[in-house]
Amino acid sequence: VSPPPVADLLVRDIGELVPLGASVPAWEPPHGPEERWPPRIRDAALASGGGHVLWCGPQADLDNAVSISAEATHVSAQGGLITPGFVDSHTHLIFGGDRADEFFLRLRGVPYRELARSGGGILRTVRETRRTGAAELLSLARRRAERMLEWGTTTAEIKSGYGLDLETELKILEVARRLKDETPLQIVPTFLGAHEVPPGTDESTYVEKLVQEMLPEVARQGLARFCDVFCERGVFGVEASRRVLQAAASHGLGLKIHAEQLSRFGGAVLAAELRATSADHLEYAAAADLEALAAAGVVAVLLPGASLFLGTERYAPMAEMRASGIEPALATDCNPGTCMTESMASILFLAVVKLKMSPGEALRAACLGSARALGLADRLGSLEPGMQTDLVIFDVPDLEHLVYHFGVNHVRQVVKRGHLVVSRR
Ligand code: NIG
Ligand code: FE
Repeated sequence: VSPPPVADLLVRDIGELVPLGASVPAWEPPHGPEERWPPRIRDAALASGGGHVLWCGPQADLDNAVSISAEATHVSAQGGLITPGFVDSHTHLIFGGDRADEFFLRLRGVPYRELARSGGGILRTVRETRRTGAAELLSLARRRAERMLEWGTTTAEIKSGYGLDLETELKILEVARRLKDETPLQIVPTFLGAHEVPPGTDESTYVEKLVQEMLPEVARQGLARFCDVFCERGVFGVEASRRVLQAAASHGLGLKIHAEQLSRFGGAVLAAELRATSADHLEYAAAADLEALAAAGVVAVLLPGASLFLGTERYAPMAEMRASGIEPALATDCNPGTCMTESMASILFLAVVKLKMSPGEALRAACLGSARALGLADRLGSLEPGMQTDLVIFDVPDLEHLVYHFGVNHVRQVVKRGHLVVSRR
């Protein structure tokens, strides 16, 4: 008989623990939130050792479950809610300048694409990011990363894509790498050189540059885990997107696509064809797109904050996705043009109100779904034994209250890899 594992972190007095886990079957309507899916543990405790969950269950069983190191850290959740740390699986966190004026112009009726045609949009942020030094970019990104942690995000994907030349794309990805060393936030970097065609060139010339010069250098320096393309009418066509992503795959990068965001254009079917890890946005996805994604096991990263912020009121077809068996993920899309927030709690609220997800379904998408969208579900997104001890203690009695009491930060403490990294109040 092997000795019980030794815990170096104990969390007690948990009012409600939502551990999630791959073994929990998907939520299915028409059950209401009164069914309290997924399973929760009331009056719970959790033990962690070496940064991994050793055990969680009813507090009464704790003493028999683990032995406790004399130096262990003891934390009381004071009757609050514990969930896995949020995984924000789609952000454009590193950028210079902002586009606040465009937000208000849009509210007066000027469309996103028109702002882009008249000197605003992505290319404006590219100009501002090119002229912002690495140190300044890092300090801006650090403050955003700290806000993420304060709101319960413990892992974030970060895309480049506001450089569109080798020098600036590398500058952004190096800032992402340095950010990883400077904050407890776990970071997954994505190369999005194909975010927009830079001025003074055309699609095919730029795609050749991406494939021949930029992708190989990014891969050589090990600066990205994924490659993403903005596949959209007037941005990158399906052929061009395929060429970039196939080249990325040949360099060992995982694949993501901004698909069907502003129109139905073919990105989702391409994502399925290329066995991309995720297809993101999907506001205009049709039934055939969802079938293809489901059959290929592509995760759908949903970004309801962008629909709200753009004022389109066009949300991804969640009911059809659920019926098709696609795994949904939730993310902020944090960027200056289409969703200026670091708060995953706000996205949970939108997912419930606008996508009609149940609270449990939204939480699962924000943790386990997002971990799958980053290829990290073997260690992130749930609190089953063996998983990384990334968790959030909220000052609410249960998951329903986290969603219902919106717009305020309920986080009391955040634990990353078994270490307390945020303590508020
Ligand atoms: O996910 N759609 C493309 N990329 C971003 C927007 C970037 C921007 O407007 O700066 C998005 O919405
Ligand atoms: Fe995006």
